[in-house]
Amino acid sequence: MATLGADLAYLERAKKGEFDLTWLNETRSEWGVRAKPSRVGLTLRDISIGSYGEVPDRAPLRTMAPRGSDVEAGVPDMGYTINEKSEVWSDNVLELYEEAVSRQWSATRDIPWTELPELPADIEHAMCQLSTVLSEVEMVAADFPAKWLWRINHDFVEAKMFLCTQVMDEARHTEVFRKRALAGGGGLGRARAVVEQFLKLILDAESYDEGSALMHLLGEGVVLSLFRAGELLAPSAVEKRIFRLCTQDEARHVAYGTMHLRYRLERDPSLAEDFHSYLDRGEELISVLFTTPEVVEPTAILAAGGVKQAEELALGAADILRVRMIEEYLQRCEHAGLDRRGRIRLPEALLEGVAHLSRGAGDQGAADHVA
Ligand SMILES: [Fe+2]
Ligand SMILES: [Fe+2]
Repeated sequence: MATLGADLAYLERAKKGEFDLTWLNETRSEWGVRAKPSRVGLTLRDISIGSYGEVPDRAPLRTMAPRGSDVEAGVPDMGYTINEKSEVWSDNVLELYEEAVSRQWSATRDIPWTELPELPADIEHAMCQLSTVLSEVEMVAADFPAKWLWRINHDFVEAKMFLCTQVMDEARHTEVFRKRALAGGGGLGRARAVVEQFLKLILDAESYDEGSALMHLLGEGVVLSLFRAGELLAPSAVEKRIFRLCTQDEARHVAYGTMHLRYRLERDPSLAEDFHSYLDRGEELISVLFTTPEVVEPTAILAAGGVKQAEELALGAADILRVRMIEEYLQRCEHAGLDRRGRIRLPEALLEGVAHLSRGAGDQGAADHVA
């Protein structure tokens, strides 16, 4: 291993008071750029000023040197593979980072666990099965960014920082659903291979483009729609609070994914076909979810208020969720600049009730789903 090369001669000089001071006298970085705090404090947007706010479209170096600093010649190459801004950037990433930091919550303290009521056995089982699935799928949304983080050029540090917040958010989501499964005595339910196969698709994605489309846009979009249905599904104030807090976090991840894809496609529209092909494969997730009893049945039972009631309603409640999920997903794609309406790969039976399936129709309200 090469030595790092400590300069002992410098130590001798410094001991005699002979300082180097070239870092002080020969600085080329921008002097006198003073960031002013805004109403909430000193935000990333507040410090995006002067040359420090300029994020290069293509990173000139592959180092960990802070963007805007004076970089010494001979810095090592960190081997980053994501060196184009459009591969990870989104116009809202600075604000999303700030929001993530200010809205962290604790699955230990912020959920009223002591108020968890004794629920009828079927409801408790249903909540525990849903918690099992969620605890299972949430962690891939930490594993995926973590897998790609070190490959992203340091010049895009704000995007990296946002992905770090996502990793923490997903740890908390995994935690809160694991805790819910154990808090009411039902324990963990069943993990299905088909669900794991989709998670593997995300983890094994050959590019960030592919993984981000499958996860930020599709997978997390589906989960966001489910969390938003929390008022309908939650059997008590405990689950209501869990779903509400998770919704805030999940909306950020999906907002990043949607706006990132939009940023990417605006700069290179020729990539649209690649993204279509990732989603052609990924949409099978929706088919899998709505044909897996461990997902469909707990949802139907929670929404109806019991097994008997759910059997009477059949797929009534699950159908409402399915239609909402698919419509929100299509709107998100449209907002990102990718029209999936004429191309969605779902069996007819699962598209029943979905509005505006013809190409280019029904774009209203898409923006609501990305903030
Ligand atoms: Fe999550
Ligand atoms: Fe997420």
